[in-house]
Amino acid sequence: MFLTKAEERALAGENGEALEIAYRVLVAIGKISNAKKLIPIKWAHVSGVSYLTIGEYGLDFLRRISKVRGTKFRVFTTVNPCGMDIENWDSLEIPADYAENQLKIIAAYEKLGIANSFTCVPFQSYKVPRKGTSVAWAESSAAIYANSILGLRTNRESAVSALACALTGKTVYSDLHLPRNRVPTKNVRVRMEKRENRELSGTVDYGVLGYFAGKNVPGVIGFQGQRFDLKIAEAKALCAAVGTTGSSGMFVPNSRENVETVDFTEKEYEDIFSELSQAGEGEAIVFGCPQMTIEELYDLSKMLAGKHFQKKCIVFCSSRIYEMAQTRGYAQVIEGAGGTFVRDACADFTPLISALNVDSVETDSCKGAHYMRKVHGVKISLKDTRRIVEENAA
Ligand code: F3S
Repeated sequence: MFLTKAEERALAGENGEALEIAYRVLVAIGKISNAKKLIPIKWAHVSGVSYLTIGEYGLDFLRRISKVRGTKFRVFTTVNPCGMDIENWDSLEIPADYAENQLKIIAAYEKLGIANSFTCVPFQSYKVPRKGTSVAWAESSAAIYANSILGLRTNRESAVSALACALTGKTVYSDLHLPRNRVPTKNVRVRMEKRENRELSGTVDYGVLGYFAGKNVPGVIGFQGQRFDLKIAEAKALCAAVGTTGSSGMFVPNSRENVETVDFTEKEYEDIFSELSQAGEGEAIVFGCPQMTIEELYDLSKMLAGKHFQKKCIVFCSSRIYEMAQTRGYAQVIEGAGGTFVRDACADFTPLISALNVDSVETDSCKGAHYMRKVHGVKISLKDTRRIVEENAA
């Protein structure tokens, strides 16, 4: 892989240990992916923020990097949600030792110069660059959204590679940064011929489709068989589910590519649905995997007007979106109905779900269903938001 003189010097350690490690990571990825060069990026989004996922080793590494003199992120860098509400963790039954470690991780990222985003929907809170711009986003749901919906170019970065991209302001010119690779390798055709409503709609339908497609297509997915005019919440659910089950980093809605096709019928739908949803109802409700957008909070507030939840309901979103929802009056309606906002945290990789002390959870998210089951051992009842509200708020 071609490196400029400046890149070679950084790789040799002339600019300090942190940059040396970062360039070593990028060069290693470049070799594996046969890349010819590194390219500049406009935005890095790093994951690996929750203490529940990165643990002691990750914390030590971040602290070491952040202490190297002069080490700063070179481009605008947002971060994924962490493992707790940064301001209200003590009132939400987060253990003090967990909180202490989580705050150390956040302090290390702050030293490196992050935007205080703590979100997996960064495109909601910051101005999105124009189509075709190269970025480096970790968090599979956000990376797939960037490629498929926003027209940005990013590979599915890992926590480590996104960190290297943020430190250098560059990424490896490979895979989905090259226009020739951004075409479907296999189509998934929706054929719901026995269903009354043949068109998929809502976050559960699109989540189930994404979960299936991710399992069956490792490359770029083409969707066809119905018109894909996705609402933000549906697109987000589809992206998150694709990223949960496979390595695909992009899909093309309404594909016309003449490639192998796999059908998604009622049978595939039912198989996935019954894999994810094992409970008729849940003892608590969790919304916000990926974190809720302002549009979803508006919809939820409309559904809840004059109602009150009959069971615990937790709503995950970023602080920025929460503040926006407060300004517009949506947050007050949701809180008035008994919903509890948890800001800046991941809905799944948080001790909060286990602290609920329930055996089952209702959610509208296939990605949430997948991870809450695996990480916290709870049974899941998968339903659309409207149905959850209708059944649990009066
Ligand atoms: Fe976001 Fe956590 Fe779900 S990072 S996509 S809320 S698993």
